[in-house]
Amino acid sequence: MKFEPIMIEQSSYLKPKIYDLMNLMINDESGLFEVGDLDGYIDKLIDRASIITIMAQDALLGFLAYYANDYVNKIGFISMLIIDPSTKRMGYGRRLVEFAVKDLTLKGFKKCRTEVNADNTKAVNICKRLGFTYVGRNEEYCVFELTL
Ligand SMILES: CC(C)(COP(=O)(O)OP(=O)(O)OC[C@H]1O[C@@H](n2cnc3c(N)ncnc32)[C@H](O)[C@@H]1OP(=O)(O)O)[C@@H](O)C(=O)NCCC(=O)NCCS
Repeated sequence: MKFEPIMIEQSSYLKPKIYDLMNLMINDESGLFEVGDLDGYIDKLIDRASIITIMAQDALLGFLAYYANDYVNKIGFISMLIIDPSTKRMGYGRRLVEFAVKDLTLKGFKKCRTEVNADNTKAVNICKRLGFTYVGRNEEYCVFELTL
């Protein structure tokens, strides 16, 4: 029997799943999560970032998107981490960050940076929990950094 490889087009397969999960967060009652052009943001992630996903029975339970393309400054950047509330506090978020950090380290990056809303306690906590330190803030966000 001959097996044909199945090609999955990420923009049509993954995009709606990421869109739905992000939309869930944007519309939760916390008001902590805002993305202006969600459609454009996800297109950019799929086009330029590395994305790690946790899937179960074709459902997206969480994902982390990070940039590993600044080979001049050797600084990686975690752009987005979302875990579905149905699987919260099971260590998925931590393990995704650990995967990205390991990947950046093996690729020779020197630092990993991320930006979080100061009022987003869970996000601030996970940064601190994984050894990221606060290095300052820009107009909107607190900047955390991990030396690799
Ligand atoms: C933040 C988020 C990714 C955490 O994912 P998670 O899989 O539930 O987190 P983990 O189980 O891996 O926990 C890792 C650490 O996060 C922190 N944390 C997670 N949930 C928390 C909560 N409800 N309250 C306080 N701290 C929390 C803790 O420091 C925790 O470490 P600990 O369990 O040893 O105390 C998840 O809550 C989420 O998707 N939030 C909405 C999106 C978001 O804000 N993303 C981050 C900004 S991009």
